[in-house]
Amino acid sequence: MRRLTAASVVVTSALTLALAGCGGSDDDASGSTTDKPDLKVTGAYMPAPSMATMAAGFFTVTNSGGADTLTSVTSDLSGDVTLHSTKGGAMEEEKSFTVPADGTLDFASGGNHIMFEMLTHKPKQGEKVSVELHFAKSGTIEVSLPVKSATYNPKTGH
Ligand code: CU
Repeated sequence: MRRLTAASVVVTSALTLALAGCGGSDDDASGSTTDKPDLKVTGAYMPAPSMATMAAGFFTVTNSGGADTLTSVTSDLSGDVTLHSTKGGAMEEEKSFTVPADGTLDFASGGNHIMFEMLTHKPKQGEKVSVELHFAKSGTIEVSLPVKSATYNPKTGH
C-alpha cells in the first residue's frame, strides 16, 4: 500500500470540480472506500514542433484514489490526437492508458506521449496549447501545455 504524499493531499480540493460530473466508481473488487480516482495533471508541456504536421505532448497524471483509464485526448490544435507508447525505440499507438490506483501515469520524452497530427497551426515557443484529457471515470480534465523549446526535456523526480 503506497502512502499519499503531502502534495497529493493538498491538491485534492482543486479536483472536486473535475470529478463532480462523475457518477462514482462501481464494482471494483477492492471494496475500499478509495475507489474513486483523484487525478492531478502536472508537468505538462509540448516541445516546439519543427513542422506543422506533427507535435508531441507530455505530462504526468498523479492519482491519489482508485484506478482510472485515459481513453482519449482532444485539442483545437488537431483533430487527430493519439496516445502512443515507445517500446524498443519504436512508437506504438495505444487505445488507452491505465492510471494506477495511488500511482502515476507518466508521459515523458522517449516514452509515452500524446501525438498531434495535421496541426491547425504550428505552435511557437511561449504559446499554450489546450487539450482535454478524457478519463473513463473522472471525465474530462482540461490541461494547458506550454510550448517549450524543441529540445526541452525536464528531469522528473520520480
Ligand atoms: Cu508517437
